[in-house]
Amino acid sequence: MDDIALPEKTTCAPQESGPIPAYHRVENCDVEVPRPAALIIFGASGDLAYRKLLPSLYRLYKNRMLAEQFFILGTSRVEMTTEQYRASLYDAIKVALPRDFDQAIWDKFAPRIYYSTFDYGSLESYTRELADLLPKLESKHQTTGNRIFYLAIPPTVFEDVIHNLGAAGLSREDKGCSHLVIEKPFGYDLASARKLNRLVHTHYKESQIFRIDHYLAKETVQNVLMFRFANSIFEPLWNRRYVDHVQITASETLGVEHRAGYYEQAGVMRDMFQNHMFQLLCLTAMEPPPLFIADRVQDEKAKVLRSLRRFSSGEFNDHISIGQYTKGTINGREVPAYGDEPGVDKQSATPTFAAMKVFVDNWRWNGVPFYLRSGKRLASRRTEISIHFKDVPYSMFPDSVTGPIAPNVILLKIQPEEGMSLFHQAKQAGTKLCLNTVEMKHDYPRGVALDAYEWVLLDCMLGDHMLFMREDSVELAWSALTPVLDALESDKVVPLARYAAGTDGPAGALDLLRKDGRSWRPL
Ligand code: BG6
Repeated sequence: MDDIALPEKTTCAPQESGPIPAYHRVENCDVEVPRPAALIIFGASGDLAYRKLLPSLYRLYKNRMLAEQFFILGTSRVEMTTEQYRASLYDAIKVALPRDFDQAIWDKFAPRIYYSTFDYGSLESYTRELADLLPKLESKHQTTGNRIFYLAIPPTVFEDVIHNLGAAGLSREDKGCSHLVIEKPFGYDLASARKLNRLVHTHYKESQIFRIDHYLAKETVQNVLMFRFANSIFEPLWNRRYVDHVQITASETLGVEHRAGYYEQAGVMRDMFQNHMFQLLCLTAMEPPPLFIADRVQDEKAKVLRSLRRFSSGEFNDHISIGQYTKGTINGREVPAYGDEPGVDKQSATPTFAAMKVFVDNWRWNGVPFYLRSGKRLASRRTEISIHFKDVPYSMFPDSVTGPIAPNVILLKIQPEEGMSLFHQAKQAGTKLCLNTVEMKHDYPRGVALDAYEWVLLDCMLGDHMLFMREDSVELAWSALTPVLDALESDKVVPLARYAAGTDGPAGALDLLRKDGRSWRPL
């Protein structure tokens, strides 16, 4: 019976006293407000904390989506007092949220923020400083023992921190929950991901672990399953009988920015494909789960990853194109080549672009290609999934009048626009026989949606794993990608092409589709 039992969920203990709203209302829906909790951020002086985590927490607080009994303890190796940390956050949040910033809210939010300089490698920092400080703050803020440890630190220190948290007894859930949130990258390849999973499981149960893929928390990524499974008209068509192919694009105009140290090791495959791109593929290709709960959804995603076809050695060039940007112009601004970016080796062979043609070998998708592409410094910033349907079986309209009939496309827009469109044919008004492609669409109004990090923070406090990666998904994604990485990096079976910044990527990527008689949606 074990395999059909509902999975275990660690719920944080409810507050002991004091009225707090259990729900926050958004239009006609309730959004659950997390229980009282302490959020301990490792890497609190880093870029992610300043740009994403603290601004998101501020906005959640402002919108009354956090419990009143709540505090943040930032830790990092940088020497700083709590006062200095608050002052630096004040500036950072004002820059990150110019329109949302409100002095009166900040005055109430700031006293919930603390900072402690920390030596990640020293067990004493955990057994003495953290174990001493936490109960004092918890009693002051009445957070009832629920703790969320958020690792916004480089992977090189994951091991020390996880090991020491466990050794100091901080992974135990005696009084409340103890959740561990781990930022990507989760591993470097299959072997390292397995090793990290083993380490985490020495101290934590799977239900305590939250592996982040912030793409899953984007509003319209969450919408993919609603769109597919809350409508009866699309799903009957969502298979090899009607779908010609699928395209998934995540194109950025940004370059490597100040992250060369990480990116030089990762490249686009580890940075975008192992996680974000494969997760988008899973949501598009998966079967309907019996229940919309995290574990049942994860089960279906795992099946998609298991069904990904492995390439044989002679096939890589027909299925993959990789490239690196050279200098060019983006939005009228000259930008340097990847090799000239700060911290990048001039001879670097790190790909900043990749396109892949993959197949999901199962009954639903047999023979339908999924084309995935992602890259930095491309012509535009756009993330989308498009489902391209087959041609009409027979056209009764003369080609000479209408031209070939463009096939239907369903477009799931993830960013910068958020929404979905159905492109179909319609008669052009005022003509006897002229067809045009027209668009039926729903766009989410800007500013209503929660930011991906707001969702991630809410859900790790609520103990909901829907927007996080389960152990098996991480390993299955690595197991699909690791042979590809070996072929690209050790055997160099696919040449690294160059593409000028501000373009659509290397010619090889266009050829992937051209050879199949198809073309990419324009960027
Ligand atoms: C991150 C990658 O996970 O996602 C970055 O490490 C990338 O390289 C970013 O720029 C893209 O995220 P978004 O939300 O801006 O599309």
